[in-house]
Amino acid sequence: MSTSKTKDKYQIAVIPGDGIGKEVMEATISVLDELDIGFDYIYGEAGDECGEKNGNPLPKETLDIIRKADACLFGAAGETAADVIVKIRQEMKMYANLRPVKTYPNTNALFDDVDFMIVRENTEGLYIAGEEELTEDGAIAKRIITRKAEERIIDYAFNYAKENNKSKVTAVHKANVLKKSDGLFKEVFYEVAERYPEIETEDFYVDATAMYLITQPQSFEVIVTTNLFGDILSDEGAGLVGGLGVIPSANIGENGALFEPVHGSAPDIAGEGKANPIAMMLSAIMMLRYIGENEEAERFDAAILKVLNEGKTLTRDLGGSASTMEVAEAIKNYL
Ligand code: NAI
Ligand code: MG
Repeated sequence: MSTSKTKDKYQIAVIPGDGIGKEVMEATISVLDELDIGFDYIYGEAGDECGEKNGNPLPKETLDIIRKADACLFGAAGETAADVIVKIRQEMKMYANLRPVKTYPNTNALFDDVDFMIVRENTEGLYIAGEEELTEDGAIAKRIITRKAEERIIDYAFNYAKENNKSKVTAVHKANVLKKSDGLFKEVFYEVAERYPEIETEDFYVDATAMYLITQPQSFEVIVTTNLFGDILSDEGAGLVGGLGVIPSANIGENGALFEPVHGSAPDIAGEGKANPIAMMLSAIMMLRYIGENEEAERFDAAILKVLNEGKTLTRDLGGSASTMEVAEAIKNYL
């Protein structure tokens, strides 16, 4: 992520999508409008409703909007999520999936002092479309690890640590069993580490890491890992800090970046103004840091913290009764 303001005005692709995606996006944009930053929002359609209307849940125009913008905010899609969000990540070659695991007060967090980042490789590993095949006896899935892609994600993790004042990067793998593929991952990790002598390193097996995340989550700062392990550990991380309503994510590529809450379109509460907008807002804060607007990101984050600490304006998922827009108003009052 960049460290300093890069432009006077930013073009942001905004894709609200379906269900509560629209509600949390509206609330988030209303706060972004109060910041001291110039934005041009370019709205794009995607998701179930878009598919019903246009016959395609992810029209080419939407991809073009994302491609041209400085960054993209994405709400949520419904049943078409795989055809929308997974496809955008592939089309835009978004190789890094960032999932912060950070405790916020008055949420359902299991620990009150956790703060680390999971950096997950998003283009290879066990999840490449088409790399599964049926055989006579069953099926085979290939797990692909290339030096190039792993070096890129590991370097991203170290650079992230450096720019965000983190002192340690932890590599997670299973090199004792997957000797060749994860053996390579581990080798590349220590090669890249030499470029960052100021940053501490350690490496753990994935199974042990799953336990350490429960027994000593405070010991982690930045975790870097391959696709499948990152997918699983990031949901474990979400469980640690509790509640889909407060968990953001980022997808970073060479030609674009997309920021989205981890939750979906929540049809059970959609249209009722009950959705918690904080996951979307924290995703927008990750975007602000990505474009180099660190001060405004801090200000937005501090306002969210105040509202959570105060505990008076919380949505239902956090035990309150405030509406989506009431939370946005409370946050704006603290800016
Ligand atoms: P979901 O995340 O939409 O909802 C799970 C549960 O958490 C629901 O009870 C919901 O009310 C609650 N919830 C989620 N976000 C919340 C928020 N911001 N505030 C308050 N409560 C919240 O996941 P689910 O139910 O598995 O999927 C619903 C739809 O969303 C499906 O069509 C699925 O395909 C899609 N989906 C899309 C994703 C995406 O666009 N990235 C990710 C996950 C699911
Ligand atoms: Mg997952």
